[in-house]
Amino acid sequence: MDKKFYIAANWKMNGSLSFINDYFSNFSPKSENSNEMIICPPDIYLETVKKYAPGFIQIGAQNISSHDQGAFTGECSGQMLNDNAIKYTIIGHSERREYHHENNEDIKIKLLNAIENNISPILCVGESIEQRESDQTFGVIDNQVKSVLDSDMLSSGTSILVAYEPIWAIGTGLTATPEMANEVHAFIQSIIDDISHSRIIPILYGGSMKGSNAKELLQMEHIHGGLIGGASLDASEFIKIYNIAEEIRNG
Ligand code: PGA
Repeated sequence: MDKKFYIAANWKMNGSLSFINDYFSNFSPKSENSNEMIICPPDIYLETVKKYAPGFIQIGAQNISSHDQGAFTGECSGQMLNDNAIKYTIIGHSERREYHHENNEDIKIKLLNAIENNISPILCVGESIEQRESDQTFGVIDNQVKSVLDSDMLSSGTSILVAYEPIWAIGTGLTATPEMANEVHAFIQSIIDDISHSRIIPILYGGSMKGSNAKELLQMEHIHGGLIGGASLDASEFIKIYNIAEEIRNG
């Protein structure tokens, strides 16, 4: 199967004007068309990144409000993101689940808001180390996917991506082995098959992906890309990962 890769940078709360300027000053990945490169900076820099980044790069937000408008201090709505031609948004990252107490119900509403505004959601799921060690990984993932995605969403025209991010691998330098990640990705695809037969969803891996481990991860059958935190803050490292995806896709 010809597999298109999605290589997405999650800058989290990092970056500055001079960082963005430096980042794109010598930014030239191998090819510009065959896979999708997505950069998700903090909201305040969405426009700046759009201005500095080469045109083939898609820009994504790291969050979207569950409300349309009104007295919700600090929030940014789907309509506002859409006004600014933002094509993707991360939803349900484990840091938002943990520090902002977002639950599956909130995440579902955010997903619906993204779809209504033609923004492709990147739904993050993943288990904690305690859950993995007590054999709850598949139960946790099943619940996170099934309580959020439904057949109406999956049959909408908006593309939906899922990112499998084991919490114990995020920012820790620990990575799921390619086999471990592939097994969970296949499981996620099987849940999606049950919800909506016709839909193949790109499933990205996240959790300490970097230039040195990207190839073995991206070569796995069910891994369609990466959601990259720490390593995406180094432009050359991020380009390296994108180039690996290009090499795999183009042979
Ligand atoms: P990491 O973060 O690559 O630094 O582990 C990934 C993420 O949290 O999206």
